[in-house]
Amino acid sequence: MKETELRLLLREMSLEEKIGQLVQLPGYFQHEGAATGPAGDMGLTQEDLRLAGSYLSIIGAEKIRKLQTEFMAQHPHHIPLLFMADIINGYRTVFPIPLAQGCTFDTEAVQEGAAIAAREAAAAGIHVTFSPMADLVRDARWGRVMESTGEDPYLNGQMAAAMVRGYQGDNPKKKGKIAACLKHFAGYGAPEGGRDYNNVELSPRTLLEDHLPAYQEAVDAGCEVVMASFNTLDRVPSAANEWLFREVLRKKMGFSGMVISDWNALQELLAHGIAADQREAAFIALRAGVDMDMTSPIYTRNLKQLVEEGRVPEAWIDESAWRVLTLKNKLGLFERPFKDADEEDEKALLLSDAHRQAARDCAEKSFVLLKNEEQMLPLQGDEAAFIGPYVGSPYLNGAWSIFADDQDTVTVKAALSRHPKTKKAPTAPGCPINDPDQPVMGFQQPVAQDNLEPETALNEAVSIAKSAQKVVLCLGEHRECTGEAASRGDLTLPKCQLRLLEAVAAVNENIIVVLFGGRPMDIRPLKEKAKAILAAWLPGTEGGNAVVRTLLGESNPSGRLSMCFPYCVGQVPIHYNHLNTGRPYHGDCHAGRFGSKYQDIPNEPLYPFGFGLSYTAFSYSPVRLSADRMTKQGSLTASVTITNTGTCPGTETVQLYLRDLAASVARPVRMLKGFRKVALAPGESREVSFTVTEDMLRFYDLSMRYVSEPGDFEIFLGPDSQTQNKARFTLE
Ligand code: BGC
Repeated sequence: MKETELRLLLREMSLEEKIGQLVQLPGYFQHEGAATGPAGDMGLTQEDLRLAGSYLSIIGAEKIRKLQTEFMAQHPHHIPLLFMADIINGYRTVFPIPLAQGCTFDTEAVQEGAAIAAREAAAAGIHVTFSPMADLVRDARWGRVMESTGEDPYLNGQMAAAMVRGYQGDNPKKKGKIAACLKHFAGYGAPEGGRDYNNVELSPRTLLEDHLPAYQEAVDAGCEVVMASFNTLDRVPSAANEWLFREVLRKKMGFSGMVISDWNALQELLAHGIAADQREAAFIALRAGVDMDMTSPIYTRNLKQLVEEGRVPEAWIDESAWRVLTLKNKLGLFERPFKDADEEDEKALLLSDAHRQAARDCAEKSFVLLKNEEQMLPLQGDEAAFIGPYVGSPYLNGAWSIFADDQDTVTVKAALSRHPKTKKAPTAPGCPINDPDQPVMGFQQPVAQDNLEPETALNEAVSIAKSAQKVVLCLGEHRECTGEAASRGDLTLPKCQLRLLEAVAAVNENIIVVLFGGRPMDIRPLKEKAKAILAAWLPGTEGGNAVVRTLLGESNPSGRLSMCFPYCVGQVPIHYNHLNTGRPYHGDCHAGRFGSKYQDIPNEPLYPFGFGLSYTAFSYSPVRLSADRMTKQGSLTASVTITNTGTCPGTETVQLYLRDLAASVARPVRMLKGFRKVALAPGESREVSFTVTEDMLRFYDLSMRYVSEPGDFEIFLGPDSQTQNKARFTLE
């Protein structure tokens, strides 16, 4: 529709109709759909339902076509509904969780994953996905770290932009594309104590410098929607934060699309103690710039009276309704209200071989080899027994895969039985995933417990471990132990799994752990007992195949940690790009009292950001700079030569970090500013170069200006965030 026609439409709409556009109803109003928050009594009338702008969590071409047809027929202006859903790491073909996708350091693979998710979801009738989540995460206690791509602003920005490009392409109207909703604006990834929905305290500089850049990348990539976060920031909940949306998001960051609240967040303004009643909540949220109210009764039941009382200018309603209509128009819904909803396409696309293949490739790229002594890996073939609750587990998808079917998931056990080299491998669960006294709640119901008799299961595992040359232990956290509302105060593995580890280690010293889960955990016992550890995260539909291929060396691990593994929970929040302090401490934790350190644990994480091994080895030349001085208008080149010194082909991820040695405010000890993946054959060398420009050196100075300051900088080129391979230059 032309913009002039859309304007005309808006002008013709009644106040009630315009308010209706600002309302998103939960899918269960149509007896369908997943509830991702508490289901409140919205107390809506038939008339309210008749005028709604959007539904959340309804899927399926047939259902959506029918609902859209009926809805439009009865709507006074036949305005189509928007269908939105959480397509986070895939729709039916599930890719690895976002935290694992971050570990690929491969924006093309991530973009492709989003494009496939969009293609499947579009065929199933979805118009908008609530992804990417660009929240910066530094605290593994927070269950939603699995939905982030990790602890680094730069990496997160690259990944968020890649996802937006994947979902939307160059135009979300096109076939197989959907609009992206960036979330959760802003700072949701830093809740106090790691407890979900908790208050967030960030200095203005930390917000601007560490948290906003990834959101900015997604905005710059053209995401059409932004979601307001649940949390308070400087004591103001986002849904009430006029400064955040009108000043920061729209004016400073240049976002012009639609803003939606999070689930029931407008109603929650009452619990926050920000609004005395629902009427107040409606006023505050609309004033803040929240265009659409997700699943609360606040806008529907209050905006009309507020306009009639003269408290809310109708222009505010028009402004928000315009944004909703504009989004519908950008998606082409006025011409094609079903967009790509098509049952035949659903049959052809969902879980297609090509989609499964891409999911498997992405999973393989996301695996991080944390340890590999005595060449435990790769396996030759049939020398290992496979033990642990994750051997047969179909729960490889991550908590957000609410539209996927676990029956489509290839378990490790199924993959072993299909592979000629491992089809005879002995397997045993050994124990359940969770301790029986720790029941886990899923999104909608308690998770069924594995029905194992503990002693029998353990004895069976020990007996097959005894006679095997090596044992692959498939351990980890249950997928429902991460995700929304799944924060934890203890990051160790369930007790039953640690007991299994002990029992197996007592009879076999050649242990390889494949670690599943949605967050970095405290894995000190694994590091101690296992000779090899492969972090496989929650790898999705093709997880089993990806794991078996990797263990057999058909795929060589190349993933790098997007979030560090803390030494223990006492270190979190922890991140590599911290400030130095006035008393940096690098020594043994018992020597010297007055350094910045703990008395009982090291400062360093167990495995740092950017870390990951390969079945081959790489050497780095010293860093070469094209010049040791640079002007603000100029640039310089930093290069390094990488050699594959091992015996098999492999991919190295060269990481570029910068450090500003003296500035008007303290600067992080290093910051990732670039990365490059290089595939090398054994013996092959390649020069990898990065261009350093002045904009990479900018920060918010003492007066909050985004500038660079002359002085000395260090540049690091190496395999992870602890590399000491560096050179120095001066910015004039
Ligand atoms: C989550 C969002 C999600 C929304 C819709 C909320 O509870 O915080 O991330 O997109 O539900 O399902």
